[in-house]
Amino acid sequence: MQVAPSILSADFGNLQRDVQEICESGCDLVHVDVMDGHFVPNLTIGPVVVSAVAKAATKPLDVHLMVENNSFFVGLFAPLKPEYISFHLESEKHPHRVIQQIRSYGIKPSIVLNPNSRPEELEYLLEFLDMVLLMSVNPGFGGQSFIDTVIPKAKKLRKMIDKINPNCLIEVDGGVSDKNIQLLKEAGVDVVVAGSYVFKHENRKEAIESLQI
Ligand code: DX5
Ligand code: ZN
Repeated sequence: MQVAPSILSADFGNLQRDVQEICESGCDLVHVDVMDGHFVPNLTIGPVVVSAVAKAATKPLDVHLMVENNSFFVGLFAPLKPEYISFHLESEKHPHRVIQQIRSYGIKPSIVLNPNSRPEELEYLLEFLDMVLLMSVNPGFGGQSFIDTVIPKAKKLRKMIDKINPNCLIEVDGGVSDKNIQLLKEAGVDVVVAGSYVFKHENRKEAIESLQI
């Protein structure tokens, strides 16, 4: 299991220190939550701050867009060369076009599904994707509790992916901890995002390692 700590729960007054610490602690990706105050009721960081994160990070960035104007934000973040850019299916009229746009920068495209969206809605896009991100909380805030309907959803998606595009990864984001990691593993999840669990833990290295099962 790969682990992507979400810097939303980091200390923004000491962002460089916190990003360096999670990278040195062996995380696989650095998860960056970009919120525009329209698609979700919260506002986070833009490319100026994320470029400072990219400089501090020794692991690849995993950018999660929670925005209305996806192609505009892809253009802003692509120059920072993240490994993945994820955007929400619920906020996009032309998802295939945004996938092509992300790919044109040499970045891996990923689509996110909210807790109430069905994996079947993605079926015709799976062959174009490197990852699907399933939300296990309603997007907008860190520290919420895990919505466990993501488990059967991940199992169903795993079957679809294995048929259509076995190289595509499944990532789960929201409320992930040592309490649900085993179930996520059994459901066929490849990558987990963890914000409050990692950053509130007294030993962040131990927290990351407890999810790398
Ligand atoms: C929520 C974000 C998550 C969040 C996860 O909208 O996408 O990445 O930071 O935080 P925890 O792990 O605390 O639920
Ligand atoms: Zn996220």
